[in-house]
Amino acid sequence: MKIVVLAGGLSTERDVSFKTGDMVAKALRENGHQVILLDVFMGYSDKKEDLTGIFDRSEEVSVKVSGIPEIAPDLAKVKASRKDQSDNFFGPNVIELCQMSDIVFMALHGENGENGKIQAAFDLFGIRYTGTGYLSSALAMDKEMSKKLFLSAGIPAPKGASMKKADCSDDITKLGVQFPCVVKPCCGGSSIGVSIAHNAEEYKAALDEAFRWEENLIVEEYVKGREFSVGVIEGKALPIIEIAPVQGFYDYKNKYKAGSAVETCPAELSEAVTEKMQHYAEQVAQVLGLDTYSRTDFLLDENENIYCLEANTLPGMTPTSLLPQEAQVVGVNFNELCEKLIQISLD
Ligand code: DAL
Ligand code: MG
Repeated sequence: MKIVVLAGGLSTERDVSFKTGDMVAKALRENGHQVILLDVFMGYSDKKEDLTGIFDRSEEVSVKVSGIPEIAPDLAKVKASRKDQSDNFFGPNVIELCQMSDIVFMALHGENGENGKIQAAFDLFGIRYTGTGYLSSALAMDKEMSKKLFLSAGIPAPKGASMKKADCSDDITKLGVQFPCVVKPCCGGSSIGVSIAHNAEEYKAALDEAFRWEENLIVEEYVKGREFSVGVIEGKALPIIEIAPVQGFYDYKNKYKAGSAVETCPAELSEAVTEKMQHYAEQVAQVLGLDTYSRTDFLLDENENIYCLEANTLPGMTPTSLLPQEAQVVGVNFNELCEKLIQISLD
């Protein structure tokens, strides 16, 4: 097949997305496909004639990918570096190349990629793509909306409230939330802008940090406990993975710096808790309409209460990412997983 692997963009998870794109493109090439790895924002050339026969020399068309830096990218700098200085989110020839492909593998994470907007545009252009459609992507990306849906389906989530920059207050009691609390951008990913606050001073700093990234936040009571994630493919949960950061919580640095977290799959949990958490993950997929694949994150407190944090519709996809590790446990290796995600998206 002719496949465009789409990565990058103007999301805070731009660098993470390149890593996913690079690994997925490599796997799909090994599987025998003609694959172009494209930065959705930078595009490819601006001459239509450069597209002639491009899939026959597709390996030349690749973004150069290095490791993931310890801090999120400077998006203003990325924006300024595009040659055509256009406001079009799609770089030169991106739509044309996607239309020439049999399917676009969505290796994007975060804003404009995971939030459904590109999926909606692709629907209008008649472009096939992997993963969740526009509406469910948008709902899952928005932690305020998705939490309402979790609770309506009886899926437990931490106590919390949402807050807009326009009517923000430093007084946490107004939200009915107690310290310690977690402050998060409402539609972010990879824990960028997320802080834990134990008192009013830390809370004020946490608000400032989160508002750097987004105008809408959620504030939740901190749940002390173990962290888990559960992939779901076509409605069926994979084995659970436990993530134990060596220090602190599973923030951006601990997610992407080698050796910062110990990951155990299948997680060491009782049969009852395993079944319950997997059931919640399947329910999340159902209530949000994530019918291809997703990965949902959970906390478990010391009394074995489960709390659902969020669903990721385009989870990290490198061989050492969480969902691929879970698939490996049931005998599906990374290359097979990439292939499967294409097949189920085309069905
Ligand atoms: N947002 C990152 C990529 C993940 O959930 O894996
Ligand atoms: Mg996420």
